[in-house]
Amino acid sequence: MSTLTYPDLSPNSDFYSDVPVTYLTKKYGTPIVVYSMKRLYENISRLKSAFANHQVKIHYAVKANYNPYMVSRIINSGVGIDAANLNEVRLALLSGAKPSDIIATPNNLSGNELLKISQLGVTINFDHQGQMETIKNHLPETVSFRINPGIGRGEFAGITTAGHDVKFGISPRDALKAYDSARKCGAKKFGIHMMTGSNVLDPEFFKESTERFFSISCEISDSLGIEFSFLDIGGGFGVPYDLSTGPLDINRTAGYIEQNFLKYRNKGYFKDSDLIIEPGRYIISDAAILVSEITSIKNSEHKIIGLDTGMNTLIRIALYGAHHGIKIAGYSDQEYSNLSDVVGQVCENTDYLARNILLPDVHIGDPAIILNAGAYVSSMASNYNLLGTPAEVAIDGNNDILIREHSTLDTMLGGFLK
Ligand SMILES: Cc1ncc(COP(=O)(O)O)c(C=O)c1O
Repeated sequence: MSTLTYPDLSPNSDFYSDVPVTYLTKKYGTPIVVYSMKRLYENISRLKSAFANHQVKIHYAVKANYNPYMVSRIINSGVGIDAANLNEVRLALLSGAKPSDIIATPNNLSGNELLKISQLGVTINFDHQGQMETIKNHLPETVSFRINPGIGRGEFAGITTAGHDVKFGISPRDALKAYDSARKCGAKKFGIHMMTGSNVLDPEFFKESTERFFSISCEISDSLGIEFSFLDIGGGFGVPYDLSTGPLDINRTAGYIEQNFLKYRNKGYFKDSDLIIEPGRYIISDAAILVSEITSIKNSEHKIIGLDTGMNTLIRIALYGAHHGIKIAGYSDQEYSNLSDVVGQVCENTDYLARNILLPDVHIGDPAIILNAGAYVSSMASNYNLLGTPAEVAIDGNNDILIREHSTLDTMLGGFLK
């Protein structure tokens, strides 16, 4: 059984952020994503203090969770935004970010969309030379490219975004040509970016990848005689999805990154360069739970517990083989003794939220709590089977605030010709 407690969840899982889970389910129905603003702010402060010496600029990767309430609170905490496309840029602007606090790291956008992003005053990490050349007649003053440093690591192959066999970024050799072309097209300032993968819990990987990245950056600087006004090392800072796994040692991670950066600075590089990170998951993943209701109990060979949420809301399990902890409100740890599978309502046999886990002797109507629901859950949810997306509630101080309504048949059918 788990040894650690999930942030803000009481030992019996009957309170979240000091609010009874059954109060929330009665008031808002299920399924609901419930955010602890307290935990969100703790995550941001921990990250800021780990990187405090290094004056690192933090840009939240809004793809992790684009709920505007959350995004505006994150921006108000002094964090910038990393956006993947024009709509994410627009959301950041609507949520209060200044263009200079946004960086865009898109993939395969049209020249038209890239131009609009650039005209909004947002710097772009271009995926490759061809993407930059789609707007070469209107090139911004600063041009940055996404480098593949040759190594990548992510919790799953699907979220490993550098190394072999990935669609992102360019090799150091192609980068030389790309920066040269940007210079010929009129670029005056330069940045450089990498993003090597997501949910990494090993500080040593950040040491190795940033060493490579900074060294490649220096080689490009030397070869072309250009200076980088920023070096953006992407996100990827992991959180444990299994309560028996310890957290990422963020201070050690930040320390390694700083040591590598300073090593090159002491050799005369990066004198006026900003260092940027783009965390998504680290900021918001463990600041939310997904609460659903047990709607069915089948006592066959396997005990199969059915919920009113499934892969439509939480695709990560079917997509990557990810693991999310599941708790049932109101039971003590000692009662988790029945081997069970947990499934949703989607007509696919991939719709398992867990297999062979220990759960209490549950009842229909019990609230089932799925952990780590803040990142890549709502933002990746779909309307498959017209099951709809969950409502979202923020617990902010003494208030519980509905920050997204349940979808309805009407909202799901909006935009269709009827
Ligand atoms: C370019 C870029 N930056 C940042 C992130 C955020 O990653 P994470 O949530 O692992 O920090 C991603 C995620 O895929 C990304 O593609």
